[in-house]
Amino acid sequence: MPSIVIVGAQWGDEGKGKITDLLAERSDAVIRFQGGNNAGHTIVRDGQVWKLHLMPSGILYPGKTCVIGNGVVIDPKVLTDELEELRRRGVDTGGLRISANAHVIMPYHLMLDTAGEARLGSLQIGTTRRGIGPCYADKAARLGIRVQDLLDEKILKKKIVAALEPKRLSLRPFAKDPKLDLQTMTEDYMTYGHRLEQHIADTTRLVWDLLEDGRQVIFEGAQGALLDIDHGTYPFVTSSNPIAAAACIGSGVGPKDIDEIWGITKAYATRVGAGPFPTEMEGEQGELLRERGGEFGTTTGRARRVGWLDLVALRYAAKLNSLTALAVTKLDVLSGLEELYVCTRYRGAEGAEFDVFPYHQTVLHHATGEYETVPGWEEDLGECRTEAELPQAARDYLAAISDFVGVPVVLVGVGPGREQVIWTEAAQHTIAANALAR
Ligand code: GDP
Ligand code: IMO
Ligand code: MG
Repeated sequence: MPSIVIVGAQWGDEGKGKITDLLAERSDAVIRFQGGNNAGHTIVRDGQVWKLHLMPSGILYPGKTCVIGNGVVIDPKVLTDELEELRRRGVDTGGLRISANAHVIMPYHLMLDTAGEARLGSLQIGTTRRGIGPCYADKAARLGIRVQDLLDEKILKKKIVAALEPKRLSLRPFAKDPKLDLQTMTEDYMTYGHRLEQHIADTTRLVWDLLEDGRQVIFEGAQGALLDIDHGTYPFVTSSNPIAAAACIGSGVGPKDIDEIWGITKAYATRVGAGPFPTEMEGEQGELLRERGGEFGTTTGRARRVGWLDLVALRYAAKLNSLTALAVTKLDVLSGLEELYVCTRYRGAEGAEFDVFPYHQTVLHHATGEYETVPGWEEDLGECRTEAELPQAARDYLAAISDFVGVPVVLVGVGPGREQVIWTEAAQHTIAANALAR
């Protein structure tokens, strides 16, 4: 039965793709359960870079069962392009299974995403403009098109008409766009359906069977806890729940089927798009970390905002997810800084200090980090493979994180390559340790 959920414990881009790929080697299946191609998950192997958007990060192992669950929103153009590109690069994608119940991103979702942002003007969220929000909105409004609909022309057409009806006014500026022509849209999406047909399946049953057979399953999250539509920095969030509970809903299993929940965090913090970011760095130091860490979006290429590690937010993410383990990535990026700042409290508008993540939007928007300083280290960490090889200051930094958050650090990233990791002593108590010993 062993199953591990991998989630982002910050604002996304923590290195979920890399960790999932690593664990997938000894696992039987990888399942995406929410989000869509707003995600960009990077895997670096033997100097080759792979940027995955919809494909689960197990796809690089030939024939590995990779599931796109019912909770994901799928742009079939992006998915077919991604499949084609992987095949072109010699990847066997035969293990891909796509939920027939997953919702489909339509051309009008992309238009509405862009138009919605334009309307918000200076208040815009900074979405990836991939149509994610409008697609989830249609799902909730029960006007969504699902993967199974792409295999039946009559049903598809009927559902498109029904979905377009209430959007007439907001789509008026796009009325002449050929992409909105009913016949064209139906034909295009039927074509995607045919191309994907061999992969479409009852994935819920598939996941049940895997778990019943005692297979090791990885549930791969997208985005991160602070972008959660219920618990994140609303309205500056994504339109799904990137927390562990969604692994159940987005794949069709119950909470008891989850054994471990790993939160991935960078050794500092980043955020793409607008919204509160209490530990954001201004000026040169932020610039330095952005350059060193290559902090530019995998999906949109936008420069990521950079900040110090926010332990208040991380502890909040640990609670929201019931984290059983932490993986700290990009520790190498901090080398050469004399002093590191970690945020252990916030200061509010009136000067009040607090040590919990504020639930109130106004409070949150005025919160700034209060820091403790810890010594940095000079050494390059790229070649370290054991805790003992890390400088004492780096070990102390990791210990401070796990002490504050109350969750053990099991894995540390010291570079983008899949071999650039350190398994800590605490990893011995995880499922992965058994798997690694298999
Ligand atoms: P994801 O969305 O959570 O999968 O993360 P992204 O792939 O969007 O962003 C993480 C970036 O950091 C990628 O470019 C990774 O190759 C890179 N990365 C992951 N782990 C490490 C690490 O330990 N050190 C360094 N320097 N880079 C890392
Ligand atoms: P991965 O899986 C970082 C952010 C966008 C924006 C907000 C809403 O690679 O960690 P959306 O297009 O989802 O409606 O945009 O969420 N966002 C991400 N930020 N990593 C991601 O994915 C993200 N997916 C969405 O920048 O602020
Ligand atoms: Mg990413």
